[in-house]
Amino acid sequence: MGKWKILHNLLACVSILLILYALIKNYVIDPGAVEFLSHKTGLKRELNLPVWLKVMYVHVAFSCIAMASGLLNFSTRIFKKSRKFHRINGYVYIVSVLLVVLTSGYMAPYATGGKISSIGFNLINMIWPLITITALIQIKKNRIIRHRNWMIRSYAFCFTNMVIHLITTLFHQGFGLMYATSYTIGVYGSIVLLLIIPDIIIRTIGQSREVANSA
Ligand code: HEM
Repeated sequence: MGKWKILHNLLACVSILLILYALIKNYVIDPGAVEFLSHKTGLKRELNLPVWLKVMYVHVAFSCIAMASGLLNFSTRIFKKSRKFHRINGYVYIVSVLLVVLTSGYMAPYATGGKISSIGFNLINMIWPLITITALIQIKKNRIIRHRNWMIRSYAFCFTNMVIHLITTLFHQGFGLMYATSYTIGVYGSIVLLLIIPDIIIRTIGQSREVANSA
């Protein structure tokens, strides 16, 4: 099994689990986001809960669509079967990314951890679309490997929420820091990790055209 195939299988497991977790946690177990909102203390702006929740539902829905469509487009088997599907699904991914970022823009001012966290989120709101559009520009110029690499960089940001929560848990429960402080560390930690890890992956799979030839 080639490196690309192993990576894709691993990605599929993590992404599918994450999609299921996001849907069940936010629409079934805790639709009022009671647990998450309990950590918001001393908000500078008053949060309009019904609106915030609706925006959060849209945010989670398009996050899941982005994760699913992105995953499908990394499949060489599907790519070989239908380029048209890859192209349409690619635009579904881009629109979903833009909607995640748009909804994030509404939620960012109320972020746990205050202004510093908000700035971190708004940084991601700029970085993620930029990286995604770069991937689109590369394929418009017919540069397949560069397109693949920029898509790997873009897809990494689908794991923003997961990485933020992992880092928050580590600092809050592991090192005993306050929740809000741990969350802010999570926001910035996720930016650093999600910019570094894809490049390690890209270096590991190399510059081969394996993506177009295998699996
Ligand atoms: C693509 C995968 C993503 C999923 C599944 C996801 C999911 C969620 C969920 C469930 C929440 C509610 C609070 C929580 O339980 O964490 C949330 C909040 C939020 N998300 Fe996302 N998200 C994703 C990506 C992003 C990205 C890329 C951004 C861009 C900056 C973003 C920005 C925000 C903001 C600003 C909040 C509010 C945070 C707060 O109030 O402290 N999310 N997200």
